[in-house]
Amino acid sequence: MLAATPPMGWNSWNQVHCYELDENVVKRAADALVTTGMRDAGYEYVVVDDCWQAHTRDADGNLQPHPSRFPGGIAALAGYVHERGLKFGLYSSPGTDTCAMHYDEYPGTLLGSLGHEQQDADLFASWGVDFLKYDWCLADINAGLEPVPAFTHMRDSIAATGRPIVYSISEYGRYEPWKWGPGIGNMWRTTDDLFAEWNSVAGVIDQQLALIRGPHTSRPGAWNDPDMLQVGNGNLTDDENRTHFSIWAMLAAPLFIGTDLDALSPIARQVLLNTDVIAVDQDPLGRQATVLAERDGTVVLGKELTGGDHAVALYNSTAAPVTISAALPGFDQYELRDLWTGARTGGSGEISALVGPHCTEMFRVTPR
Ligand code: GLA
Repeated sequence: MLAATPPMGWNSWNQVHCYELDENVVKRAADALVTTGMRDAGYEYVVVDDCWQAHTRDADGNLQPHPSRFPGGIAALAGYVHERGLKFGLYSSPGTDTCAMHYDEYPGTLLGSLGHEQQDADLFASWGVDFLKYDWCLADINAGLEPVPAFTHMRDSIAATGRPIVYSISEYGRYEPWKWGPGIGNMWRTTDDLFAEWNSVAGVIDQQLALIRGPHTSRPGAWNDPDMLQVGNGNLTDDENRTHFSIWAMLAAPLFIGTDLDALSPIARQVLLNTDVIAVDQDPLGRQATVLAERDGTVVLGKELTGGDHAVALYNSTAAPVTISAALPGFDQYELRDLWTGARTGGSGEISALVGPHCTEMFRVTPR
């Protein structure tokens, strides 16, 4: 099965956005995934987001890479990524415009796949693409499209290539993709873009809590995607980075790094390479967390793992330290591993911890 666990990797957008994207940035990211140990920790897909394209298609209607920023071409770049034991991803849009075009950042003509769906899918497959981010960008407004047929069209075009390609639907949760995404894509954005600031992270977490209270949770091959990681970017504090990563793992979210791996701070490295937390994200059962308790800006999440363990996260969204406690139904006696300090303790009854402002404590609980 494709995307049997939430896809992980690096994506160019949060790091370089549009005009700073070039093949060297992508190669450096691929190299760094290997040298930092991130590839071996599970970060597998190297995804080139918007602005890789030349501003027009060629005489045959083929998309072409931007000549000065991708002089070696996409097939060679995908080859470079593959040689390092990684997989390669690319970006397109269902309408006439990509998002950077739509927002007038990037002038171009028909860089979206409208009317070229099979041609583009065939081209991507011939280049060695393993992952496609298909980004809506108001294709309803710029091309009069409806999301379900538009995303289905590219799904079928990908299938017709015969190449296994993870298909990432990006429409920001506008048309409730959690209702129709399974069976069409392997993952779908559930929110607007995530920014590297606390209000954005906290806001997205709130939106996800609403989703997991209902029936629209993920499953293997079909994942809710609360957007790519901002760990290491902007003015997120160490504790906020830790919350961001912990909650994404509890949500079984795809984990796409979007920061410069050559300039990684020690704390960002520690967060992104916390293999115990990654194991919670990647647990083969593929469950999302449920809300066990909630009170005054604090939330306790629990997630069932394979083999009978549970992951528990105590999240404090407030600006003051709070002791958060919760009963774990069915757990009288247990062993507890703190996934951020590694400390092991035994326990019984409620789990309780003092949690700093905007911080999250996370445990793996094994019944005894
Ligand atoms: C949208 C998407 C982003 C990124 C940009 C590219 O904003 O949500 O993730 O792909 O478009 O233009």
